[in-house]
Amino acid sequence: MYVIFLGAPGAGKGTQAAEVARELKLAHIATGDMFRDAQKKGTPLGLKAKEYMEQGKLVPDEITVAMLLERIAAPDCAHGMILDGFPRTITQAEALDKALDKALARQAKGIDAVVYIKVDEEELAKRLGGRWICRQCQAPYHELSAPPKVTGKCDRCGGSLYQRDDDKPATVRERLNVYFRQTAPLIDYYRKAGKLTEVDGVGAVDAVRKNILSTLKKGTAGRN
Ligand code: AP5
Repeated sequence: MYVIFLGAPGAGKGTQAAEVARELKLAHIATGDMFRDAQKKGTPLGLKAKEYMEQGKLVPDEITVAMLLERIAAPDCAHGMILDGFPRTITQAEALDKALDKALARQAKGIDAVVYIKVDEEELAKRLGGRWICRQCQAPYHELSAPPKVTGKCDRCGGSLYQRDDDKPATVRERLNVYFRQTAPLIDYYRKAGKLTEVDGVGAVDAVRKNILSTLKKGTAGRN
């Protein structure tokens, strides 16, 4: 099963993708995590991406597409994947369609479903302002809605928690502007392709996940 999670910054893509991928035994590919990992390692890709990320802008398409296509060619993606944070522009979506058409021509199968997690702007700002992330495994927490059991420590791996630089209010505003300008047109792109399912992203994390899972199980039954 090949699935895209689409939504604004803070919509809960990472929170939901990690759990849904575990449950459906799919690879979880998050381009934001890949860029942050490259930055931590100080690679040329990481340094380049940092210039854009700290301003809340998108990393250029040619860099992002090359990184993503290399990643999804790895064996763990062969049985399916959830893409979290990719594509984010029409150019990226077209590059993905082209690559999947080529790789999967024999099975005549491309993206199965695009889950659009819808959350209003006021809620997005609250979520990003209170978010904490594990330095080791990237699990997201929220100081009010999803606090860790021990302050500052990840429940899953014990790693230390930190706040992302791009979660500062001015950068969040720019990320939301960029989302509405460059990424939101993908909603129509995938709706026209008959792949889009809208899920209400406001509510308890478990309830949102149940909706996503039932949508995926219904929508793709028999396709994988
Ligand atoms: P990326 O890391 O992908 O950030 P993003 O899309 O802005 O998304 P977020 O991680 O902020 O939010 P999310 O939807 O995953 O929400 P989360 O689950 O954490 O990208 C960062 C940067 O990298 C970009 O700005 C860009 O520069 C670059 N980049 C990445 N991909 C790119 C691409 N394809 N092209 C070009 N550039 C790219 O949840 C948020 C918070 O809410 C958490 O605290 C969580 O605990 C809480 N929460 C989650 N669900 C709920 C709920 N139901 N109720 C209450 N709280 C909730």
